[in-house]
Amino acid sequence: MNIDVLTLFPDMIRPMLAHSMLARAIEGGYANVSVTDIREYSKDKHRKTDDTPFGGGAGMVLSPQPAFDALRALGAEQKKKIYMSPRGRMLDRELLTELIEAQDIVILCGHYEGVDQRIIDAWDMEEVSIGDYILTGGELAGLVLIDALVRLIPGVLGNEDSHEEESVYSGLLEYDQYTKPRVFEELAVPDVLFGGNHRLIREWQWEQSLRITLERRPDLFEAFLARDPALSISEKAILKRVTEQAHRLEDDA
Ligand code: ADE
Repeated sequence: MNIDVLTLFPDMIRPMLAHSMLARAIEGGYANVSVTDIREYSKDKHRKTDDTPFGGGAGMVLSPQPAFDALRALGAEQKKKIYMSPRGRMLDRELLTELIEAQDIVILCGHYEGVDQRIIDAWDMEEVSIGDYILTGGELAGLVLIDALVRLIPGVLGNEDSHEEESVYSGLLEYDQYTKPRVFEELAVPDVLFGGNHRLIREWQWEQSLRITLERRPDLFEAFLARDPALSISEKAILKRVTEQAHRLEDDA
C-alpha cells in the first residue's frame, strides 16, 4: 500500500514512522509512506502557503496553488484522496477496509482554519474525522489513520488471527489480560488461567468479552447479535447466561 502525506509540518509525521509497527511495516515493504512538505510547492517569493479567509474571520486558510501543485506532482489524480477534518466521515473499520482496497492514498493534513474548499472539491477529497473534537492540525489525525490502516495490511501483524481477537474487529471488546507474576502486591490473576484447561480459559475469555461489551458498549453488543454470529453450543449458553443476568440486574434497578 502506498500512502502519501501532504503537510506543512513534515517533522510531526516522520519520527512516528521510525518506530514500532509502522517502522516494521515500512521496512518489510508492506507499506510505503512518503511525506511531502506543501511549502516546497509554494510559488510565493516568501514561500507563503496560506492567506486570510474571504468573508473575514480568524485564522489562515491553506491556499490552492501549493496544494494543487503538490497533488499534481504526486500523481494524485489516480489516487484516493483524504482530507483530515472534524467535518468528515468518522473513521471506523468499514472506512479502513475501503482505504486498504484503494491501495494508493493521499492524505492532506490541514492547519489553521482549514483549507481552501476548491482543493477538496476539485480533487474529490473525502473528509475523514477521528472524533468529535478539534485538533490543532490534521497531522495527529493523519497518523492515527495511518497506524490503524497499516496494521490491517495482511502480514503486518505477523499473526493473522490477531485482528479477529481484537476489540472492535471481532465485534466485541477484548477480555482482561494478565501477565507474570501470578500475585503482585496481593493482587492475584484469576485462577482459571492456570488450570491448563484451554476450553475453560476460552469460555472465561468469551464471557468476559460479552460482559464488558454489554456494559460499556451496548451499541456494539446489539450490532454483534444482529450479525447472527456462528456460535458453539457452549458459547450460546454463556451468551444466554450473560444477557439474562443483565436483564435481571435491569429489572432489579
Ligand atoms: N483536524 C482537526 N481536528 C480533527 C479531527 N477531529 N479529525 C480529523 N482531522 C482533524
